[in-house]
Amino acid sequence: MVKIIAFANQKGGVGKTTTAINIGASLAAIKKRVLLVDLDSQGNAGTGLGFVRANHQQSAYGVIMGTANIADNILSTAVPGLHLLPSSQALAGLEIDLLGMENPEFRLRDALATISEHYDYILLDCPPALGYLTVNALTAANSLVIPLQCEFYALEGLTQLIDTISAVREKWNPSLEILGIVLTMYNKQYGLTRAVEDDVRNAFGDTVFKTVIPRNVRVSEAPSHGKPALFYDFKSPGAQAYLRVATEIIERTEGLQNVSE
Ligand SMILES: Nc1ncnc2c1ncn2[C@@H]1O[C@H](COP(=O)(O)OP(=O)(O)OP(=O)(O)O)[C@@H](O)[C@H]1O
Ligand SMILES: [Mg+2]
Repeated sequence: MVKIIAFANQKGGVGKTTTAINIGASLAAIKKRVLLVDLDSQGNAGTGLGFVRANHQQSAYGVIMGTANIADNILSTAVPGLHLLPSSQALAGLEIDLLGMENPEFRLRDALATISEHYDYILLDCPPALGYLTVNALTAANSLVIPLQCEFYALEGLTQLIDTISAVREKWNPSLEILGIVLTMYNKQYGLTRAVEDDVRNAFGDTVFKTVIPRNVRVSEAPSHGKPALFYDFKSPGAQAYLRVATEIIERTEGLQNVSE
């Protein structure tokens, strides 16, 4: 059974896209079949995998609007086993374009259902907002991963996100779970980072992944080479941390197993 995971946090720049790309690459490296869906009009998931922006019809926009067939628009990436449904600038206008259309919350879910048998994981990279795109992602997903940067306002934004999750559960997707919170751009030398980590772990317990993602220049350089960190610098602390989070994700979604199998 496919696992559909949304990477969501309405706060900008917290590491959603970086996490989605690198978890996607890590899962693919351990022989999972992975589709990454870029739901942000900025298109960073696509550019981070070496693609230029797609046109409207060949993107998640056309798929959600019902004018493009999802299967025809999935791209193979340089990472074996990792596919991409790209974004386009038109996604920025989707909120308005969906007005008055039927079932606006279920469009992504219904499109994914037609191709899900080909994948073990479908990862949804959400934009930094709680509009229709994120709602479509949360309605389509079995679970979500919340990337969180350990800084002063981190927890405030979480309350709003959790309210949205509750609303989506109530209206459209009762079985939506929080798979985990991943602490990103972690800097252990920085006292505030550790203080926020303590607060988040006290409030959310085991929901927080054990592995934290260190702030690592190799992670931030990798997208400019069109590669996930794992394929840009395998040994970098960031790439290795993402591999460990991917292992935790497999444990949480599939139960314990030996990933070297
Ligand atoms: N572990 C890391 N170490 C260093 N830089 C990082 C790390 N993770 C993310 N970054 C950098 O931080 C910036 C924001 O990351 P990213 O684009 O993944 O966030 P986002 O939540 O997807 O942003 P948006 O809300 O705009 O979609 C990027 O420039 C990225 O390269
Ligand atoms: Mg992003």
